[in-house]
Amino acid sequence: MMTHRPLLLTPSILSADFCRLGEEVRAVEDAGADWIHVDVMDGHFVPNITIGIPVVESLKAVARRPLDVHLMIEDADTYATQFVEAGADRVSVHVEACPHLHRTVHSVKDAGAKVGVVLNPGTAAEAVRPILKDLDHVLLMTVNPGFGGQKFIPEVLPRISTIRNWILEDGLDVDIQVDGGITPQTIGAARSAGANVFVAGSAIFRSQDYKTIMMTMRHQAEAEATP
Ligand code: DX5
Ligand code: ZN
Repeated sequence: MMTHRPLLLTPSILSADFCRLGEEVRAVEDAGADWIHVDVMDGHFVPNITIGIPVVESLKAVARRPLDVHLMIEDADTYATQFVEAGADRVSVHVEACPHLHRTVHSVKDAGAKVGVVLNPGTAAEAVRPILKDLDHVLLMTVNPGFGGQKFIPEVLPRISTIRNWILEDGLDVDIQVDGGITPQTIGAARSAGANVFVAGSAIFRSQDYKTIMMTMRHQAEAEATP
């Protein structure tokens, strides 16, 4: 089932040139980015280490769009609110890393940011159901998190539809975000399944022309989506 929620693109700076991070953020904003996706990895929850709180503070000084911070860290309970204080407008926490999910989610909301819960490709949709009404978005990973440039896992698509149906049935105001392997070739299927917020790292930053690739992705999402 397609969604009528607005289609948003959130470029993942993981694939940007980190030496020119401010310029890269400005460039994707000028090219039409809706949010800026910031991937935080701690070398424990995922086998990679990226960036942390000081970089989010620096990004906040240049970004004109909301900072969409995706925490791939073991101890989200301790650090989530520190990312809000650093300037995160939205924080996504993994259900697999949060034994006290309600506490973590409400700590982000109380700190003044929007909040989302993330499911890895191997995690059942039911894991998010008890907390769905408290969320601003659900993020479904369409790769196993840790690296940019991986291949989209199509087996996640039915789970997008399941969660979209729960959102519609319950009349909730919740976005569905997808992250991993989103390209002009895969975005239509994710949109058709019910996603409306699309993270893309390598597809955008490896392109020579950010504006054209983002327009192509928007076009493909709508063109291939089945109502
Ligand atoms: C993966 C990250 C993604 C990543 C997406 O662990 O959460 O946000 O940057 O990169 P692409 O779009 O290249 O799959
Ligand atoms: Zn991400």
